[in-house]
Amino acid sequence: MNTMTTTTTTTTTRAPGLSIHDLTVRYGRRRILDSLAAGVLPRGEVTALLGPNGSGKSTLLRTLAGLTAASGGRLTLDGETLALSPSGARSHSVVYLPQALPAGVRLQVLESVRVAYCATRSHGFGSTHTTRDADIAHALSVLQRLGIGDLAQRSLDQLSGGQRQLAGIAQALVRDPQVLLLDEPLSALDLNHQFHVMQMLRDETRRRNMVTVVVLHDINTALRACDRAMLLNRGGIVGFGRPADVVTPDSLMDVFGVVARIEPCSRGTHQILIDGLAPQADMASR
Ligand SMILES: Nc1ncnc2c1ncn2[C@@H]1O[C@H](COP(=O)(O)OP(=O)(O)OP(=O)(O)O)[C@@H](O)[C@H]1O
Ligand SMILES: [Mg+2]
Repeated sequence: MNTMTTTTTTTTTRAPGLSIHDLTVRYGRRRILDSLAAGVLPRGEVTALLGPNGSGKSTLLRTLAGLTAASGGRLTLDGETLALSPSGARSHSVVYLPQALPAGVRLQVLESVRVAYCATRSHGFGSTHTTRDADIAHALSVLQRLGIGDLAQRSLDQLSGGQRQLAGIAQALVRDPQVLLLDEPLSALDLNHQFHVMQMLRDETRRRNMVTVVVLHDINTALRACDRAMLLNRGGIVGFGRPADVVTPDSLMDVFGVVARIEPCSRGTHQILIDGLAPQADMASR
């Protein structure tokens, strides 16, 4: 018996994290994701999901969440297969925050977070506080950690776009997920909140040993605040690995058609600066 081979196989398939095997998703006859295959998105790490408009980022997140059906492939979490057809079975261990949040919800912010927390517990996930006071205290602590404790008594339908986005992030975090999927959670946030939310996501992802996937358009946030990046283009993965290896002037030219350069920062890190659109000749060769 080849012990080495057996051990390696077991380690690969049981690696803690989320794995995507040959995932194909169609809308009607259009193939949106085409045999997508990625290594493990490990527990304890934040993965940035990057790519142009229409490249399939939201479709992938919805498929990972079990909300959009895949027509082929396999998803595993810690080696266990996740259902590919829409089902509620994993909706509370896998939490998904959509790109467009529902408007017109009249619930108070604190109540909305408490309800999200209780819904999670009633499905057998999360911790086991039992009293309403404890639930409220826990919900409030999440709001406070996000810096929006002062919004607790406000109605969701009277918040600004960014405030509503922060309330949505609080509703997602309070559910204590194993897999957290956030679709453009920073799109309406000011600079301070962008930094704060990413820092909190990274801390919580490590502390809870979650798999976190965040759709971003800001490549510098991916470089600065994520452990890993996945770059989608035309329904396929064109880069997956350390953000600095995935987000490069070459890949930005190929995928987005922009001229970019890497500039060192005074703090010892690097930033990508975009100089402009690629000349037509370069665009034509894409
Ligand atoms: N419900 C749907 N029915 C049919 N086609 C859809 C549906 N949702 C998305 N699509 C198409 O699937 C493709 C991928 O869409 P998706 O929303 O996943 O892109 P995205 O990468 O999230 O883009 P964006 O950055 O604009 O949010 C697009 O061509 C889009 O038009
Ligand atoms: Mg999208």
